[in-house]
Amino acid sequence: MDKILIRGGKPLKGSVQVRGAKNAALPLMAAAILADGPCTLHNVPCLHDIFSMDKLLASMGMSVEFTGRYMTLDASAMNSVTAPYELVRKMRASFFVLGPLLGKFKKARVSLPGGCAIGTRPVDIHLKGLEALGARICIDEGYVVAEGELTGADFAMDFPSVGATENIMMAACRAKGVTRLSNVAREPEIADLARFLNAMGAQISGAGTDLITIVGVDSLNGAEHVVIADRIEAGTFLIAAMATGGDVTVLNANADHLPTCLTKLREAGGEIEVHGARIRVKAPERPKAIDIITQPYPGFATDLQAQTMAMLAIADGVSVIRETVFENRFMQVAELARMGAQIDLDGNSAIVRGVPALSGAPVMASDLRASAALIIAGLAAKKGETAIARVYHIDRGYERIEERLAGLGADIERVHD
Ligand code: EPZ
Repeated sequence: MDKILIRGGKPLKGSVQVRGAKNAALPLMAAAILADGPCTLHNVPCLHDIFSMDKLLASMGMSVEFTGRYMTLDASAMNSVTAPYELVRKMRASFFVLGPLLGKFKKARVSLPGGCAIGTRPVDIHLKGLEALGARICIDEGYVVAEGELTGADFAMDFPSVGATENIMMAACRAKGVTRLSNVAREPEIADLARFLNAMGAQISGAGTDLITIVGVDSLNGAEHVVIADRIEAGTFLIAAMATGGDVTVLNANADHLPTCLTKLREAGGEIEVHGARIRVKAPERPKAIDIITQPYPGFATDLQAQTMAMLAIADGVSVIRETVFENRFMQVAELARMGAQIDLDGNSAIVRGVPALSGAPVMASDLRASAALIIAGLAAKKGETAIARVYHIDRGYERIEERLAGLGADIERVHD
């Protein structure tokens, strides 16, 4: 089991390339199921979660070639509509194959994903939406078994779920007639998926707004697509710069996808400059305390909450963070406290009393974004060494994070324990 060791206190300086978005690439890979011909994806990040999706699709007979950041996927030889528990339980996004399988093959057998560290993460909205399209769905031995010809319908979501929006949109591409989805997620990854599906011959409009209209078609062709930049990775590097008094430019980023994050970093005293695909942050000596409420896009991203908490742990003042998207996304708090952070929890709120400095300590990663928070805290710590265990959580969503932070001047290394 690898560990990451950090000796903090050094301001991050320089520039870093942002990779393709994990949360765009995963549904894009699932969407390739719908194509009758080969698809090509560019700017695919090299991450464990991508390998997991690759393995799942290959287990159903999809041919996947992934070299560098270039991936080809060909569904023409698919011979199974089953997504097995042992693969789905490792990565919740595997559940995104349900919609495409049902849309193309009129049947699917996909394991329920189960919960994870940040919450129970039910899939009721996914299933209600597919039933609205006419799917017959039952739960059998922990599997969702779905079948039937799909017919376009109007469906309003209880909550703007990202995954449910993606699953239902993909299925609706092959429904007969028109589907109108309302109260949908508006994350940039949704619009990216719609662009790819339209390139395949789908007829989707309104992606990125709260009403998406899909006119079903009889077939979809292979297409080529460039994965959008990872806004969460970009935000993570910018927050790390803020936590270390640094001056960092992220390259190949899209500032339009980080509206609330940039506003909040300015509020915390950061000087933000945007020039095309470059976002530069010049940090103050010490961040100011700010209040955060996570919300569906374009609100403050829940995937940046833990990282921001690490920055606020050393801010000048008291900050309040309210997590409204997931019910248990404060896994980083206990570990940050081991480093000297003063954080009290009150339901879905965290009161963060900024301290002048954190100290390095042995800590344990628990989920992807909590792990990123521990790295940021280790970089900010003014004394001692931080040893982060279970770094496989980090590798799910950040490519060679220690090399890229070292490139910004961090004293960080990965050791094989
Ligand atoms: C996506 O997860 C992302 N993952 C998550 O990123 C992200 O945190 C989340 O959206 C919110 O932005 C991928 O895109 C692969 P949701 P998803 O459905 O689709 C509840 C990361 O760190 N809900 O929008 O699973 C759910 O319990 C990951 O990269 C239902 O109640 O998120 C949660 O409280 C973590 N019923 C809320 O909605 C449902 O049927 C948001 O979930 C579906 C969701």
